[in-house]
Amino acid sequence: MRSAAASCSASAPASTRRSALRVYDTIVRLPLKIGGKSEGAQPVRDLDTVRGFLSGAGPSALFDLPWMPVYLAICFLFHTYIGLTALAGAIILVTLTIVTELRTRQPTRSATQFAMARNTLLDASRRNAEAITAMGMTGRIARRWNDLNRHYVAESGRAGDVAGGLGAASKILRLLLQSSILAVGAWLVIHGESTPGIIIAGSILGARALALVDLAIANWRGFVAARQSWQRLARLLAHLPARTEPMPLQPPAKTLVVHNAAVSPPGEHKVVCQDVNFSLAAGKALGVIGPTASGKSSLARMLVGVWTPARGSVRLDGATLDQWTPEALGRHICYLPQDVELFPGNVAQNIARFEDPPHPEAVLAAAQAAGVHELIVNLPDGYETSVGDNGNALSAGQAQRIALARALYRDPFLVVLDEPNSNLDAEGDEALTRAILAVRARGAIVVVVAHRPSAIAGVDYILVMAKGRQQQFGPKEEILNRVIQPSTPPRTLKVVPGEGGGG
Ligand SMILES: Nc1ncnc2c1ncn2[C@@H]1O[C@H](COP(=O)(O)OP(=O)(O)OP(=O)(O)O)[C@@H](O)[C@H]1O
Ligand SMILES: [Mg+2]
Repeated sequence: MRSAAASCSASAPASTRRSALRVYDTIVRLPLKIGGKSEGAQPVRDLDTVRGFLSGAGPSALFDLPWMPVYLAICFLFHTYIGLTALAGAIILVTLTIVTELRTRQPTRSATQFAMARNTLLDASRRNAEAITAMGMTGRIARRWNDLNRHYVAESGRAGDVAGGLGAASKILRLLLQSSILAVGAWLVIHGESTPGIIIAGSILGARALALVDLAIANWRGFVAARQSWQRLARLLAHLPARTEPMPLQPPAKTLVVHNAAVSPPGEHKVVCQDVNFSLAAGKALGVIGPTASGKSSLARMLVGVWTPARGSVRLDGATLDQWTPEALGRHICYLPQDVELFPGNVAQNIARFEDPPHPEAVLAAAQAAGVHELIVNLPDGYETSVGDNGNALSAGQAQRIALARALYRDPFLVVLDEPNSNLDAEGDEALTRAILAVRARGAIVVVVAHRPSAIAGVDYILVMAKGRQQQFGPKEEILNRVIQPSTPPRTLKVVPGEGGGG
């Protein structure tokens, strides 16, 4: 039984690596499927809990438990009374184990829930440290965090008290039962029904049988926590079955066709972008305009495949996006999100999307295509400049321009830019237009979501969104003449919704 546990841990590294990767993959992909109802980084902690329990003394304590009936049977062979005494002891201790199980289950579960809420709040506070400090919210958020922490400590303390108290009771009972077996043995010897040797053997075996239950109770809390973690992981992994790799397709090179497409945010039923119909050939660029919350970013997410269409289809060279693996899609489609975040690492690594090793020529080419090479070499350490969470070492405009270079790395076929100029000055705007024209010149397709006219200087088609629907699609001049109010100030694009039909 111990060798079984040992062989389990010996084969752990490969399977541990596999399950850790699967859990990471699920944490990243699950929010795209069920939205805000995912549990953040909790699955990683669950995996640690299961691993911690399996590599501790817990499993061997539980694996040894089936030996108890064997020890009890031998006690019965010694003498019925010795067997009965040991059996009564075992029943009492097993009852204690069941009580431990019932009384630790609930506090362990709510302790985990409070820990999850506490960690989510902590993550959000860390990400928004500047806003929290500037708005004087530190004290209030700290109190909220402290409340959750107090509940967590109280619940895990409750589970600990139950398990600890019942564990101590079981130890006392065990000693009492061991003494009882000795007493019964002595009584049998006095009445000539047994020999002194049997007393000793009975006492040793009885103690062995009862010690197994004792050990199991001592490890019960860990077992309950590991079992709950395991159940949560199983539920989570069932949401997202392991991916099967589709057959590799030829890189797309000709068209982007969106047919009658509609999309809902992950885990929601409301459709936030619908009736989208357009097609673009290689070398064309589309500007998507429309008021706030009209569904522009939702359309962009659908075009890059992070949100799956609820109806209709998005096709590159005739194939829907799910026919490519996410890695292949990442090579052919690039996306500059509205909220730019760079990852901890240096500028070159970020542009190369952490390709290992990064390809220096491709990094330089992407930086040049985005017109950001000069800006980067002027940074303190050039391409080696470290950027922390949210691109700490950079201004918002610098981060946005570097993120544009990241989107252009290795010449993707479809480039989707969501408000790429929201933080840019005039020079950045010009670099953006040059980048869009260069992407078109090499035969790729660009889609730019824009609030400001400067971002759509390099496009030749316009799609107008309003109230979650496509309102217009067509050549730029024609659409702009039709939908832009004559009194509109030149720095913003203001659309009169509801004019005309779909494209
Ligand atoms: N993750 C999400 N979960 C639920 N609803 C969402 C989510 N993202 C967007 N929405 C909703 O979808 C609608 C369209 O949002 P979207 O971000 O596409 O607008 P937008 O046109 O890009 O606006 P803006 O110009 O402000 O960026 C909004 O009503 C918004 O509340
Ligand atoms: Mg948006």
